[in-house]
Amino acid sequence: MGSVSIALMQGQTEKSVWDGVYSPLQATRGATAYALRCASCHSDDLEGAGQNPGLTGAGFRKEWDGKAVADLFDRIRISMPADNPGSLTRAENADIVAFILKTNGYPAGSAELKSDADSLKVIRVVAVKPK
Ligand code: HEC
Repeated sequence: MGSVSIALMQGQTEKSVWDGVYSPLQATRGATAYALRCASCHSDDLEGAGQNPGLTGAGFRKEWDGKAVADLFDRIRISMPADNPGSLTRAENADIVAFILKTNGYPAGSAELKSDADSLKVIRVVAVKPK
């Protein structure tokens, strides 16, 4: 059984990135952390440069389409920043993910994106807005 169905059995509702899963203030904090820790490689506008992939755009969204936000969070937690992997706190990581979601056009909501695995597992990246 997948982690999503276990989380659902525990009574958590499955959400998508279209449901306003981070707050505007959190994305602003994330922008600051991104500028310090990520922009040197992924560029100020998240478009990437050279060997460093973009973290926005249709290609990025398609790659993550259908995956859980927890997977994006863990990808960053384990392997980024590439020059010092594992150095972000979970809270910083959640802020940066909020900023990445914002830059990709997913709307803000009233509550912050939480940084615990169970909360992140039930939020799905859905590349294109469901009708
Ligand atoms: C020293 C350069 C460098 C820094 C700093 C860096 N990255 Fe990366 N990042 C890379 C490279 C190179 C790759 C592709 C190869 C790899 O995965 O190691 C990558 C890949 C990624 C991916 C996967 C992209 C995809 O298409 O799925 C994500 C997400 C990411 N980085 C996020 C971040 C975040 C967030 C930060 C800041 C906390 C950060 N990176 C800092 C170099 C960097």
